[in-house]
Amino acid sequence: PIVGESIPHEAASLHVTGKALYTDDLVIRTKDVLHAWPVQSTHAHARVTAVRLDEALAVPGVVRVLTADDVPGVNDAGVKHDEPLFPSEVMFHGHAICWVLADTLDAARVAAGKVEVDYEPLPAIMTVTEAIAAESFQGARPHMERGDVTAGFAEAAHVFSGEFEFKGQEHFYLETHAALAQVDENGQIFIQSSTQHPSETQEIVAHVLGLASHEVTVQCLRMGGGFGGKEMQPHGFAAIAALGSILTGRPVRLRLNRTLDMTMSGKRHGFHSEWKVGFDDDGHLLALEATITSDAGWSLDLSEPVLARAVCHIENAYWIPNVCVDGRIARTNKTSQTAFRGFGGPQGMLVIEDILGRCAPLLGIDPAALRARNLYGPGQTTPYGQEVTQWDRLGRAWQQACNQAGFAERQQEIEKFNAAHDHTKRAIAATPVKFGISFNLTAFNQGGALVLVYKDGSVLINHGGTEMGQGLHTKMLQVAATALGVPLSTVRLAPTRTDKVPNTSATAASSGADLNGGAVKNACEQIIERLRPVAAQHFGVNPADVRFDHGVVSAIGSTAEPLPWAELTKRAYFQRVQLSAAGYYRTEGLHWDSSTMTGSPFKYFANGVAVCEVEVDGFTGAYQTRRVDIVHDVGDSLSPLVDIGQIEGGFVQGAGWMTLEELVWDESDGPRRGRLATQAASTYKLPSFSEMPQEFHVSLLEQAHEEGAVYGSKAVGEPPLMLAFAVREALRQAAAAFGPAGASVDLALPATPEAVYWALEAARSGE
Ligand code: MTE
Ligand code: MOS
Repeated sequence: PIVGESIPHEAASLHVTGKALYTDDLVIRTKDVLHAWPVQSTHAHARVTAVRLDEALAVPGVVRVLTADDVPGVNDAGVKHDEPLFPSEVMFHGHAICWVLADTLDAARVAAGKVEVDYEPLPAIMTVTEAIAAESFQGARPHMERGDVTAGFAEAAHVFSGEFEFKGQEHFYLETHAALAQVDENGQIFIQSSTQHPSETQEIVAHVLGLASHEVTVQCLRMGGGFGGKEMQPHGFAAIAALGSILTGRPVRLRLNRTLDMTMSGKRHGFHSEWKVGFDDDGHLLALEATITSDAGWSLDLSEPVLARAVCHIENAYWIPNVCVDGRIARTNKTSQTAFRGFGGPQGMLVIEDILGRCAPLLGIDPAALRARNLYGPGQTTPYGQEVTQWDRLGRAWQQACNQAGFAERQQEIEKFNAAHDHTKRAIAATPVKFGISFNLTAFNQGGALVLVYKDGSVLINHGGTEMGQGLHTKMLQVAATALGVPLSTVRLAPTRTDKVPNTSATAASSGADLNGGAVKNACEQIIERLRPVAAQHFGVNPADVRFDHGVVSAIGSTAEPLPWAELTKRAYFQRVQLSAAGYYRTEGLHWDSSTMTGSPFKYFANGVAVCEVEVDGFTGAYQTRRVDIVHDVGDSLSPLVDIGQIEGGFVQGAGWMTLEELVWDESDGPRRGRLATQAASTYKLPSFSEMPQEFHVSLLEQAHEEGAVYGSKAVGEPPLMLAFAVREALRQAAAAFGPAGASVDLALPATPEAVYWALEAARSGE
């Protein structure tokens, strides 16, 4: 079988040689392209009272400036209809007011600078705490409750409470937002878009243009990273390009440079949380009460489902009998925060991991022991009522990771090291991950595919998922080759297009391989079922006895020569047997009631454990990650190299958020209020080689077959990001080691060297 083989990413050689095409690369192959550039707001919140275009239109090469008056359909690009595409009230610093189209990018940029805008400034809310004080909320307020927290706290031997606030994260995909739109002679619009959700890009563009969906086609070749940032945010940019193309009859290209992208597009939500927790004498969690508030920026975007996932992951991998959680979405004058790898899950999970990290010393229990003690056990359910049937995998992953890391021995070595070094301390931490797989909203859990077999036996597959580097296409090629019993080289994959597979879900929630793999497999199986009788007739056997293996078709109980696959497909064609099929898959057994926050929304949970050792310098707070060991549950891996790459990449991206990456908005009352200060790689620090763990060991959980999922596999895309919590917990413990035993350390996120320094200073001075 080809599924399960370690093969390189299907486009790896194209990526590294620079031959891989991304949306904006298509511009040089397109004639008469117009370039779009935005006029951005210089206020965080203001009414736009006048826009004067004369000077801009006089710039040589300028063709047109797109404004609200040009919109033939609905002037809105948000799925919640709260995102005017051309706003009359700007809601954040950098908000696009109108767009210039010109023959060259330079002309468009220069002209955008000459558009004069009059503003009437309005008060701007910059932080989640300001929003809470002003009661500036938007959208649903989920409430999740199980058991009786009051009784839980009454029974608890130890009760603690606290607050925790942290900022979001910039996606920093290498390829920024891009769209290229063209109109054909019938007014059919074709948009190449860097989008994780082509069907929704199509839908929003159709709304804006006042067209039906069949008049708009969206294609995504591949993305240079999406990470959730291209699940909903590409729609407006695609709509601008499409509108420009309709009005001018020329192809329109819109590509944001890095600073435009960072100042205009949404990021991971920061969160504020307030919590109260109760433990029994042995450190078992008895009750958790929390109010979590996300900082959503100016519009809803995906903030409601992101918050729902945060609420549903607040207990991470731990059994808590009594739970009461309230969620709120703050409206602030910032970019509209959106999906980002983990989709709220990490923000919820951080609450309990922060609690355990802070409370372990107060309970006098080793943090790793406290975590292990509270892992889910048999028969237990999540606070929203889904049974954790694979509880044993958490324990097994914990054991496998601790064995692989030599946790106990290293913990002793570290104690010796710390006793001998006053100004350098080490620590080792282990944290678990349990992450629900499926979209909370049941309807999204469906996938489609179109598989074409040509007379010569070659196979072309289309599926509804998009490729963003995560290796989905590689896995789909493996699934098709396996299901058809042909070599990998027989199968090619065509770019994702809305006119091949309609009504697709976003490639998101890590569900790409589950949903589209199910659909590709289904289409292949339909074709195989049609080919069986053709082969059976040739071999004179029962159709069930025909075997398809690596391009060779044979039959059990027949002495006839096997048929090459291409020979069979040719025969089938001449017998008028259909050689193409549309495949479909939907995840069964899911239910979710968002009004009560109860149900079984997830097909299964992905599990993992990370063990991390760090060393911290007491003079500066500078640190190194000495070693990381990960054990992660991917079921029976569809493609082990791809999965290990996802685990490593997810971990590093999470570690960046935990330790380095910091979004800074100007919160002063001056004229720059609301301006994003971290607008480029120069000020927004990403992890690089120097931050990699010195030793990095990733292994897959053993005996992890997932019954009922495509070839026994599990989703992998997002869950490993949260393994990086181990880095922060190790830093917390190392900071504590500078103080007297039992110091509880409150560590800021990101735990930059500066933050670690202040944390260890506090521990040292016994605060
Ligand atoms: N890996 C790479 N290289 N680039 C990406 O943009 N996005 C992540 C994850 N891994 C991403 C990635 C996110 S947010 C998700 S939801 C999944 O991939 C989506 O793909 P999948 O469903 O096929 O796993
Ligand atoms: Mo991923 S955040 O679900 O695109």
